[in-house]
Amino acid sequence: MQINENFSLKQYNTFGIDVSTRYFIEYQTEKELHDLLAGGLPAQPVFSLGAGSNLLFTHDYEGVMLHSQIKDIEPVEEHNDCVLVRAGAGVVWDDFVAYCVEKGWGGVENLSLIPGTVGASPVQNIGAYGVEAKDVVCKVDGVSFGSNSPVSFTNADCKFGYRDSAFKHLDEKIIVTYVNFRLSKKPEFKLEYGTIKEELKKYETINLQTIRRAIISIRESKLPDPVVMGNAGSFFKNPVVSKMQFEQLATQYPTIPHYTVSEQEVKIPAAWLIEQSGWKGKSCGNVGVHDKQPLVLINKGNATGDEVVKLSNQIRSSVEAKFNIKIYPEVIFL
Ligand code: EPU
Repeated sequence: MQINENFSLKQYNTFGIDVSTRYFIEYQTEKELHDLLAGGLPAQPVFSLGAGSNLLFTHDYEGVMLHSQIKDIEPVEEHNDCVLVRAGAGVVWDDFVAYCVEKGWGGVENLSLIPGTVGASPVQNIGAYGVEAKDVVCKVDGVSFGSNSPVSFTNADCKFGYRDSAFKHLDEKIIVTYVNFRLSKKPEFKLEYGTIKEELKKYETINLQTIRRAIISIRESKLPDPVVMGNAGSFFKNPVVSKMQFEQLATQYPTIPHYTVSEQEVKIPAAWLIEQSGWKGKSCGNVGVHDKQPLVLINKGNATGDEVVKLSNQIRSSVEAKFNIKIYPEVIFL
């Protein structure tokens, strides 16, 4: 176990915000985590940090950041058509995807290259290209922070929603240790979303490997690499509006892109709303709006969390003034 004091988090958040935490503690195993909690933590509050790819730090953290280094992946059950795989919370998400694709197990290939860790995948219910974590997660194992006792959540217990899950709303904090996934040995490919089919024309066959490569190249063409330019992926969620409000908007903007969510609700890409409000590619000091995907806010160098919050508030006000639609951050502010 590694305990660090007054530790810089700059390398631990993809926005690259330079803040520090009072304590930063890494543990390698579930037992180390239990021992750590049993011995009492040196400060409060406590936050379980993954890869920091969906966070915005707005100030130094006065408590303890726990960082899982539980990194084992193992198949725990095998059936004719599927396999259950258990992966440690500290595994890099895309390493897990690469492992499954390599084994020929389908289900997560559309989630290739999403930044983050396995432990964060059910919390955020990560999603892309027509697939969400909820489609493959069968059980989440963790430790209840208050009682230091093991807990398990079935898929239904997780109460998955759009970039949402029970883990964000529990009264008692849970630290995820392992996530169990159900993967298919006879996968049905999901190719309907966006330009996947078009991208796949570059390959002779369609299989898990080529889908993974196609998704990676689509993502790389649109989303900035956090190593080159700090960002946290989509900064905002795509808003859901009533069908009535959508129909009113459609008379004014006949080309408005949209997805039907239910008979009464329609989802509108926040990227479109932000672009129409004039923000695409705009800069504000050290922060900016990405020129290929305006859902993504970028750190142009040495930005503070407050600068990002300020820009995000300006964008939200513009979108609300123009369309009467509220957009909300997907990123968590700390
Ligand atoms: N659009 C514009 N202008 C642009 C870019 C996009 O108007 O400059 C409009 C287009 O109409 C486009 C639509 O926005 O068709 C949707 O764009 P895209 O397919 O790129 O998806 P998204 O809604 O922007 C969501 C997820 C992404 C995920 C992609 C692909 C959210 C908040 N974001 O983005 O997730 O990768 O779909 O499935 O749901 C993330 O959560 O960090 C993330 C990157």
